[in-house]
Amino acid sequence: MTDLTAFVERERSRLLADLSDWLSIPSVSTLPEHAADCRRAAEWIAARLGKLGFRVDTIETDRHPILWAEGPAVPGAPTVLCYGHYDVQPPDPLNEWITPPFQPTVRNGKIYARGTADDKGQVFCVVSALEGLSRANGRLPLNVRLLIEGEEEVGSKGLTKFLTAEPDRTRADAVLVTDVHMVAPGYPSVDAALRGIVHAEIHVRTLKSDLHSGLYGGAAPNAIETLWHLLERLKGPDGKIRVPGIYGRVKRPSAKELKAWKALPIKEKGFRAEAGAKALNGETKFSFLERIWARPTLEVHGIVGGFTGAGAKTVIPAEATAKISLRLVPDQRAKEVAAQLRRAVQRAAPKYADVTVTILSQSDPVQTPLDAWPFEVLDRAYREVWKRGISPIRSGGSIPIVPLLQQRKAPVLLTGIGLPDDGLHGPNEKLNLDQLWKGIVLFGRFFELIGDRRR
Ligand code: BES
Ligand code: MN
Ligand code: MN
Repeated sequence: MTDLTAFVERERSRLLADLSDWLSIPSVSTLPEHAADCRRAAEWIAARLGKLGFRVDTIETDRHPILWAEGPAVPGAPTVLCYGHYDVQPPDPLNEWITPPFQPTVRNGKIYARGTADDKGQVFCVVSALEGLSRANGRLPLNVRLLIEGEEEVGSKGLTKFLTAEPDRTRADAVLVTDVHMVAPGYPSVDAALRGIVHAEIHVRTLKSDLHSGLYGGAAPNAIETLWHLLERLKGPDGKIRVPGIYGRVKRPSAKELKAWKALPIKEKGFRAEAGAKALNGETKFSFLERIWARPTLEVHGIVGGFTGAGAKTVIPAEATAKISLRLVPDQRAKEVAAQLRRAVQRAAPKYADVTVTILSQSDPVQTPLDAWPFEVLDRAYREVWKRGISPIRSGGSIPIVPLLQQRKAPVLLTGIGLPDDGLHGPNEKLNLDQLWKGIVLFGRFFELIGDRRR
């Protein structure tokens, strides 16, 4: 048995310096001005894998490159495909960061930077486990492939194209997706489901151009007002989505699953406090866990239009745009929901307005059975390293490529060493270093136990 604790103890400061180096590359996939940084971030992790003896292919896409890496062949041993992403979300709002987002800083045992938990830190954790294993033994105990992309945060279009053209890349005994977090400190978990997403922009035009609100107000249609009435028709104050047909395929979790959630160490009060809300809302007849994990949602992310500068301007805006997304749950289908949304918007649009819906990205929800043998191995590794086995949970977030990772029927293990308060996508994103160090030992043990299962 290889215990990577000694490796972590010995290499800790170098590993931290290396991770900081990677985190300081601002690989923001959605911003065109960061395209070169995305490529640099890909090259950084490719170089590291190359040093470990992996054969690395760079696959070009319309935007940011995909990395495919293969470890040395280990005949007779199982194969694990590891997935993660090197791209990150924009760091805004910048002035809320205590230290700059691309200047990684350690405070109180946590490393702060954009991408620490989502997802560079977690990819680094897996790669460091592989490094530790090959240093200790001169070889790896199993066949490892890594698929690391740079478009996860923008919908994984390039990777979708690649895996659709080459489905056999997803042939493996297990797929390890370390882009989720554990349910609470000390409680390792595996996701049985993720939500899907339909991301859209609704654009309203009511006039040729902006008008004086005194001279025209009362008769000329206001685009922002039109937009708010329209949004109101898409979702009520009771949290119910008013898009016809939207709930048609929604499957409720089994009684067994719902009961198991009650025993989890996350409670409504703590969740509310962590969210920083005075009260929770939504479809309150469902538990908060069911609402965030197993109910579809519609959220407005931003509204653009009118006059928002300093001071006052009396104007009737001619156009307005809302950026929205719907989260989908099993067994909804993204394509169908996108069509339902289009129809609902057209139906709610008044005759005097030109209303268009643009779908920015879409991905299906995921459900993954937890009964395949690699889950037993993962459970054992967590028991040994974390002193507790895995709790089955769900996550409300989305990872667009997972449905395609399932296409060759390999079991998909959605697990991670991040924590719920890591602040993904927000200011001061962090990763607890003790989670990272323990995670290296955990994944090392997981890979070794998988390797023990010779076919
Ligand atoms: N890693 C997250 C998703 C996630 C986080 C799943 C925590 C489960 C637990 C991922 O990077 C993400 O943010 N996905 C986006 C996808 C979208 C931009 C297409 C999301 O969920 O908003
Ligand atoms: Mn992620
Ligand atoms: Mn993310």
